[in-house]
Amino acid sequence: MQRIAVVPGSFDPVTLGHLDVIARAAGLYDELHVVVVHNPDKTALLPIAQRVSLIERAVADAGIEGRIIVASWSMGLLVDYCTDVGASVLVKGVRSQVDVAYETPMAIVNRHLAGVETVFLLPDPGNAHVSSSLVRQVAALGGDVTPFVPPAVADYLQAAMTL
Ligand code: PNS
Repeated sequence: MQRIAVVPGSFDPVTLGHLDVIARAAGLYDELHVVVVHNPDKTALLPIAQRVSLIERAVADAGIEGRIIVASWSMGLLVDYCTDVGASVLVKGVRSQVDVAYETPMAIVNRHLAGVETVFLLPDPGNAHVSSSLVRQVAALGGDVTPFVPPAVADYLQAAMTL
């Protein structure tokens, strides 16, 4: 039986912290879907198609091995995507107790909705301070984002911010 998992998120943009979790999850499952989901609680910077493209490039550039599919989902519940692709597990990275508190209700609701379990992975502590929101802020204010994001994302943000 194939072990299929989904790593969901806003990925606005994908960071080195995300990439670390994607690489760890790719080593644990036969097939991994990295799914860009529109989060209505957040003001987006990048169009969803651009976020998908940057994840694809970052995964390829980092040489992450495994069957990795990058997709987007805006048709309803995330667990419906999981059911569609035969995934029984969601994977989330947790950097802190704040992340655990944010993720716990979603994990329990997703289990109630469709029996989809959530697996929490601990990222490299070196990335514990990295978040998409901080990257967006640093980029908007003209700072150097290269320590926090894959090179493809740094290039994209540098070009977008100098337009
Ligand atoms: O990167 P983010 O913004 O923290 O990701 C949050 C996300 C997109 C994973 C979360 O908002 C989500 O799961 N949205 C899907 C909508 C859904 O299924 N909601 C009901 C169960 S939580």
